[in-house]
Amino acid sequence: MRYFENESYSYRNDVLFVEDVAVGDISEKTGTPVFIYSKKHISDRFRQFADAFRDIDHHVFYASKANFNINVINIFRSLGSGIDVNSEGEMIRALKAGVAPQNIILSGVGKTADEIRAGLDSDVLMLKAESEEEIELIAKIAESKNKKARVAIRVNPEVDAKTHPYISTGLAQNKFGINEKDAESLYLKYNNSRCIKFTGIDMHIGSQITSLPPFIEAVEKLSALYFRLKSQGITLEHFDVGGGMGVVYKEENPFSIHEFAEALKPHLRKLGCKILFEPGRFFMANSGILVSDILYTKKNDKKNFLITDAAMTELMRPSLYGSYHNVQPLIRNKYPEIKADIVGPVCESGDFIAKDREIEDLKQNDKIAIISAGAYGMVMASNYNGRRRPPEVIVDGDKYFITRSRETFDHLLYDEKLIKELI
Ligand SMILES: Cc1ncc(COP(=O)(O)O)c(C=O)c1O
Repeated sequence: MRYFENESYSYRNDVLFVEDVAVGDISEKTGTPVFIYSKKHISDRFRQFADAFRDIDHHVFYASKANFNINVINIFRSLGSGIDVNSEGEMIRALKAGVAPQNIILSGVGKTADEIRAGLDSDVLMLKAESEEEIELIAKIAESKNKKARVAIRVNPEVDAKTHPYISTGLAQNKFGINEKDAESLYLKYNNSRCIKFTGIDMHIGSQITSLPPFIEAVEKLSALYFRLKSQGITLEHFDVGGGMGVVYKEENPFSIHEFAEALKPHLRKLGCKILFEPGRFFMANSGILVSDILYTKKNDKKNFLITDAAMTELMRPSLYGSYHNVQPLIRNKYPEIKADIVGPVCESGDFIAKDREIEDLKQNDKIAIISAGAYGMVMASNYNGRRRPPEVIVDGDKYFITRSRETFDHLLYDEKLIKELI
């Protein structure tokens, strides 16, 4: 079996540590399942990114949809990052974490009027627009507030990011953005609007992208649009490359951030404007694990099952996209290897963490770490089957902080009323 290790997660005498804390010490305190994140991993990845682009005028806006724990957002804020938010709920989290509104980008393909109002009231750096109707609505709301809204159009460059279809966003069949031709007309049409100031152009072609050509192709296409707009009198302040940089879950071989920077910088430099980035997964995926208990084991003539107390309700990615997450014991080399399905307690056959996985022949109440769970994990957690969302812990060196406790059953019943007249 594979034992994943990185600079933050490693075995010491066969005991899994996150930074300088034994993972088992944390789960003993919090119970399982529990999400644990390494602050060192977040800071290291952020610094690598910033360093690779240090010689161009740029600003990173961490995409908080990957992990919106307010302490995670606060770590990014302290590193100098802005925050990309996809809803008013995420915006409120960023503001609560102390992020200045000028360091917030409000994204989202279907923002409601209330969300647009909230973005304008908070005076965020810019709102992205993804349809003409949205531009109209932003203009109308800005006018009612006597404001000029800062807007970037998300342009769909129609390139194939060669990633899972559910996380590909830059193709014509995807719901995201506006094609180049229509975007160009809209920039021209609304440029003299009293209530819209176009500040940028934006792309985001998908997530978990492991090869450079889709990025280069998209940047080339949108650079050409940037210059066409410039020649027609529209000079934009920002060019936003989006996020999507891939990470290693299994045996992927993604480009390094240095390679990414070297490939894109020649194109980006020519623009002469500020370059924005919105990575989420790149920073967070391998900063986090989900620790779970083996509730039961069982075997039949076809399969071995390890039944865990973590489920699709904590980590939906395997059920949603068939994603691979390494699974490994907190104490290793105790047993021979078997092949097993690692499955949760939720009443769905689609509730699995791993299928036919080589793993040690773990016993009841052994603990496991589900690796690479820092991005798109807790943010997708749900209360399906009446389950309580788990606690989240951040480790910093030899200290750890429980940043959020396990939900209580009162949370599950929050504001639900038993209406007597209904019977
Ligand atoms: C607009 C936008 N920016 C950034 C991201 C972050 O993507 P990733 O986590 O792959 O870097 C997303 C993810 O879907 C997105 O939709």
